[in-house]
This record gives sequence, C-alpha cells and structure tokens, in this order.
Amino acid sequence: MTEIKIQTNQRRYSVFAERGLLARLPVMAAPGEKALIVTDSNVAPLYCDNAARALTGAGFSVSRLVIESGEKSKNLTVFGEILETLAERNFSRTDKIFALGGGVVGDLAGFAASSYMRGIEFYQIPTTLLAMVDSSVGGKTGVNLAHGKNLAGTFWQPSGVFLDADTLKTLSALQIKNGIAEMLKTGVIRDAALFERLAGSETPALADILRCIEIKAEIVAQDERESGVRKLLNFGHTVGHAIEKLSDYAVPHGFAVAAGMAVAVAAGERRGISDDCLAPLLAALSLHGLPVGTDYGAAELAQAVLSDKKLSGGKIDLILPTRIGSAEVVPLDVSEIEAFIAVGLEALRV
Ligand code: GLY
Repeated sequence: MTEIKIQTNQRRYSVFAERGLLARLPVMAAPGEKALIVTDSNVAPLYCDNAARALTGAGFSVSRLVIESGEKSKNLTVFGEILETLAERNFSRTDKIFALGGGVVGDLAGFAASSYMRGIEFYQIPTTLLAMVDSSVGGKTGVNLAHGKNLAGTFWQPSGVFLDADTLKTLSALQIKNGIAEMLKTGVIRDAALFERLAGSETPALADILRCIEIKAEIVAQDERESGVRKLLNFGHTVGHAIEKLSDYAVPHGFAVAAGMAVAVAAGERRGISDDCLAPLLAALSLHGLPVGTDYGAAELAQAVLSDKKLSGGKIDLILPTRIGSAEVVPLDVSEIEAFIAVGLEALRV
C-alpha cells in the first residue's frame, strides 16, 4: 500500500492508495460508532455495497445517502439534506461521514462534516480521477451559489483519503479527460517531467496520479488556507470557472480548466510572462481530446470572472506559468481582466 502523508494545521492525515482498497478500508470504529456513506446515483450501484461491507466489517453501524450525480447537486438544498439526514439518524459528534464518489460528493460531504454539530470527521474515497488528483486532498469543501462556483464552503481536512485505483476502470473517457486536465495543470505549475510524461501518453500511469497527490500534499502543507503558494493550484480556474458558470455547468470542470489554461497561457505569452508554454500545452490538451479554447467572448467571460470569489481589493490573482514546471501569481486589476482575456482569445485564434 502506498501512503502519502499530509501535515496541515487542522489535521495530519494520509492518502492510502492500493488496488482493491475499497473492500478493506483501513479504518476502525469505536464501539457504537455510526458511518454515513454519502455517494451519488452513478457511483452507488458500482461501489456502495463494497464500501458499506468494509465499514460494517470495521465495526461501524452504516447507513447511506445517495444524491443525484452531477454538478447541479452541489447546492445548498442538497447540503441541507445531508445535514438533516445526519440529524434524523441521530449522528453524534464522534460519528463519521464517508464521501464515496467524485468532487461533487466530496465537496458536499466535507462541507456537511465541517458544519454538522460544528464539525465531525470525514473520509474521502475518491472514485474519479479528478477527485483523486485534486479535490479529495487539501480540505476545500463547499457548494455553488447562484452567483458562482464554490462561493460557500470551508477548509475542513478529511481524516483520511482512500484511493482504490480499480475504480478508474468504470470511468467514462470523458471522466478520465476531466482528471487529466488537472494532472496537466499540476505538471505545468510544478513538475516539467510529469508534464512531459502526461504529454507523451494517452493513459495516465498510477505513479503519475500519486505524483500529483504528492505535489498537492506539499503545497497544502505549506499553505493550507490559500494565502500564497496554494493559489498556484488555481491555474486555469479563473476563466475555467467562468466557462462552467456561463455553460450552466454543462461544460465539465476539467474541460473548462483546460480551456482556461489555454487562454491564460496564450495571454501570458503575449505579455512576455510565459515562455515556451503555449505550444506544448496545446499539444498535450489536443492529445487528450481536451479543449484548446472557448467560444465564449472576452466580455462575458470577464463578467463571470468578476462575480467569482477570488477577487481581493480590486485585484484578481491570475496564475501564469513562467515556463513548463513553474508558475507565479500575477495580480491583475479588475479593469484589465477583459483585455487580458481578449489577448488570450486572439492569440489562440491565430
Ligand atoms: N483545487 C485547488 C485546491 O485545492 O486548492
């Protein structure tokens, strides 16, 4: 079993990775402890029985809550349903939540864990590539509001992350691409060799999935609450979140981030910040069937960006690679954002 340790101010925990881990989750209940498995309508028929059996074997009294799959469920109503379920089933402060699924399930279950009785423990069991390499690690939880993505939420670290790579077998090609976009992001901001490997192969190796988690763990350990280096993980997400919102979440997260990375790097190269990044990035995105641009215009993207949460003091922190493997935070005045996006879109058209 591979173990990657994460030290944060809030909690010290590990990501455990092993094929078949779902059937032997490394956790034990105290006498009488309850577990709520929060999962979605896609994942429940595939993996919920296995997880429930493992948790029952570990001594938990197990119950389940299945939410509708998809980003549209990441809202205050479903968040409230999870809390009411916990209350109805008499969950106490020492009982646990297990988030079995992708990022939507993990974000919702984590947010509920952080607020039920002012905070109970939860575990992440990511079953999508995207959740494995990004959302299950680092403690960002939350829901979308009408005004934008992830506008309500908390930093609430899981007590453990259990990764069973066998669950990758049931993912659609689209879901794999969704995760590869975040893996490419990690390579661009931090590890040129990882980027090269991903850019040269259609299928990500388990070692590279683990490398992404290792990088994320290092970054989160340095900056749990995103006041510095953690901002780099938002590369591609400024325009990406705008695309998700404008499409009413029809464009999947990884696809939106892919387009967001392309726009940011294209503008960054034109402005002389990013060096020799655009061609390799576009080639890697194309290899994986990810978008290399967007049909949305600069004005509508800028408007959506400006309602996003990452504004501080009239500035927006854009993340731009300086070269493949290294990136920096570039604060941009809100008045410049539309022009910046327009430069990127124009550069992608030529
Ligand atoms: N998904 C970016 C982060 O966790 O900071």
